[in-house]
Amino acid sequence: HEGNAVPDKFAALGLTFDDVLLLPYESDVIPSEADTTSRVTKRISVSMPLVSSPMDTVTESRMAISMARQGGLGVLHRNLSIEDQASQVDLVKRSEAGMVSHPVTTGPQATLGEVDALCARYRVSGLPVVDDDGQLLGIVTNRDLRFESDQGRLVRDVMTPMPLVTGHVGISGDDAMALLGKHKVEKLPLVDDSGRLRGLITVKDFAKSEKYPNATKDDAGRLRVAAAVGFHGDAWKRAMTLVDAGVDLIVVDTAHGHSRGVLDMVAQLKKDPAAAGIDVMGGSVATREAAQALVDAGADGVRVGVGPGSICTTRVVAGVGVPQVTAIYEASLATKPAGVPLMGDGGLQYSGDIAKAIVAGADTVMLGSLLAGVEESPGELVFINGKQFKTYRGMGSLGAMQSRGQSRSFSKDRYFQADVSADDQLIPEGVEGQVPFRGPLSGVAYQLVGGLRQSMWYCGARTIPELQSNGRFVRITAAGLKESHPHDIQMTVEAPNYNRR
Ligand code: XMP
Repeated sequence: HEGNAVPDKFAALGLTFDDVLLLPYESDVIPSEADTTSRVTKRISVSMPLVSSPMDTVTESRMAISMARQGGLGVLHRNLSIEDQASQVDLVKRSEAGMVSHPVTTGPQATLGEVDALCARYRVSGLPVVDDDGQLLGIVTNRDLRFESDQGRLVRDVMTPMPLVTGHVGISGDDAMALLGKHKVEKLPLVDDSGRLRGLITVKDFAKSEKYPNATKDDAGRLRVAAAVGFHGDAWKRAMTLVDAGVDLIVVDTAHGHSRGVLDMVAQLKKDPAAAGIDVMGGSVATREAAQALVDAGADGVRVGVGPGSICTTRVVAGVGVPQVTAIYEASLATKPAGVPLMGDGGLQYSGDIAKAIVAGADTVMLGSLLAGVEESPGELVFINGKQFKTYRGMGSLGAMQSRGQSRSFSKDRYFQADVSADDQLIPEGVEGQVPFRGPLSGVAYQLVGGLRQSMWYCGARTIPELQSNGRFVRITAAGLKESHPHDIQMTVEAPNYNRR
């Protein structure tokens, strides 16, 4: 284009979800047989290609537990102290497992009040009692506490002491269940040859593994969890504390991933022996060059989306971004050849957008607004005119970026504004609001994955890779979009997977 700058300046046409539809193809796939397994990062697979966003109105431990149980993954937000975020990782990792390798314990001198508080915090019904050396002394459970009114009594006076029914560490699941059944107990502490506590198997966890057969689990059978970090200040300390707490994936979470600090953070995490075995995702980006830079830095996954989010104002405040279908496609030109999974983040309004993101080149999608209204998201229900809502806000909104009391806000460095000390000098890139209450995540996830299965049937794709390679788009006009939505009718019954915005 020598001598003519125009073609380069207006390089591309950007398309998004509402600009395209998927072409139907001859198919012998039936929806229930479609396999929705995909990869979040090089080593983390999910049976449902959905990830919940690291936002303070979307993902804390309760959402992360529920997402992993349903077969997806939750990314814990970072708008809280390092200790609080690490303890949320801990809550997820301990929540359900074939075997709990580091059970929550108490000591003989603890009070019943302390035991009660621990049980409530970890949602467990009893605790093994150990001495300072880790030697198993007994167990204190609901049964021991039920008729105790004095919260000041000591554990040693109330617990069921040794000898207890125990298993040897390394016992098989079937043998453990047989022991639990034979002795009619609910918890089986596992000990080594010297009597030290090495794990715990509970009836409840077995029941849950049967209830959630598609759960996203690590090699030890624990639920997987991801967590967000920044790239400067105490970001390194945060990352290392999360690693110590057992996190599976670190997401270097910024609004502009194509910048030196972010690329360096990804590269350093990948090099550090302390984080060996932990996957690292970088982002967010919206061009091929930026995705390539993250791939070259060693990222195990690339997060794509600049400004498509329902609460984002980046595209109007800064005038920057790439419509999401084009952004995903462009970034995939760098990630696909490198074998690095791509996550399309933001802008999804309906289940049909999941398949569109996948056909454009995504392996998974990240959701904010579609999940903010579920029971498991942080925040209380709000009643307005008899209808129920939950709050949802952008991490670049004033509310999320403002410092609260003495604690720093971590979210403003996502927008590279960590140096701004006065709240009234922040430049927000997001808004605050509310979304309708949607009930438990299980129902919402079922509809979203169900929609994806229908897409796979229409497109003749048995697997996600098949959908990626065989799917084709047709571009549509504003008239086509109008035709896509219900029209010429006054809707009287609300559908579980459709609401007009
Ligand atoms: P959805 O459309 O699912 O989008 O609600 C969620 C994604 O939006 C991003 N995000 C923001 N982007 N300003 C932005 O420009 C913000 O305040 C903001 N907060 C979240 C984020 O990538 C999220 O996953």
